[in-house]
Amino acid sequence: MNPSLPSITPYPGQSGTKKEQVSDMFDAISERYDLLNRVLSLGIDIQWRKRVLKRLRPYAPQRILDVATGTGDLAIGLLQLNPKEVVGLDLSPGMLAQAGHKFKRKGLTARIQLIEGDSEELPFAQDYFDAVTVAFGVRNFEHLEQGLSEMARVLKKGGVVAILEFSRSRVPLVAPIFQLYFQYILPTLGRWVSRDASAYTYLPASVAAFPEGEEFLRILQKSGFCETRQERLTFGICTLYTARKQ
Ligand SMILES: C[S@@+](CC[C@H](N)C(=O)[O-])C[C@H]1O[C@@H](n2cnc3c(N)ncnc32)[C@H](O)[C@@H]1O
Repeated sequence: MNPSLPSITPYPGQSGTKKEQVSDMFDAISERYDLLNRVLSLGIDIQWRKRVLKRLRPYAPQRILDVATGTGDLAIGLLQLNPKEVVGLDLSPGMLAQAGHKFKRKGLTARIQLIEGDSEELPFAQDYFDAVTVAFGVRNFEHLEQGLSEMARVLKKGGVVAILEFSRSRVPLVAPIFQLYFQYILPTLGRWVSRDASAYTYLPASVAAFPEGEEFLRILQKSGFCETRQERLTFGICTLYTARKQ
């Protein structure tokens, strides 16, 4: 772990590494994750994932890896780019089970491969993928730079990475209102619906501690990427980072 980054865990004071706790937490909320996502983000997350597709489309990637794929929404969206291969990888068996049910319902089982695995030790050969995506996953990595370096390793030279992550709005008026929502309303709603007391307290705590903007771009550069860019979305509450493998 980068010693300058504080380690925020889902269940502070309990045993287990961050990775184990993150996997347990997402297992616990997996059945209600999609519902919570739509309600708590007021559907805006759909627009954010569309922006990822827009940025990737010019590269026409043929082999795409969606790291921390969760219930698979971004992986499904990636099919719109007409790639030859889409792989979704995640740590949490519960989230992957939900993705699997969804793919079956939509008749997509043959088009997206799901793999249980760790972003910090990707089970793929180097220089394999044309694009790697992560939506709301990197904040949960135990060793951020290790996860990013692994993404660089499995990408072809010049391959593109697109990372969506929450960020802290700096827009006057919007920032305090969003902060109020994120710190108080969201954890309460999240607790009711997910029935997990910690998951939606961990969310704002982990966002508050996560490196964003220029700081995150520097970490991408250290991890083997160039042409690093950030695009702040929806008053800066979410940022899309893109970069290419050196
Ligand atoms: C907030 S969810 C995002 C899911 C999905 N990408 C989306 O946009 O809805 C974060 C996901 O990251 C996964 N995750 C966290 N750490 C991981 C790691 N080290 N390797 C693989 N997946 C990880 C979790 O299991 C969880 O499914």
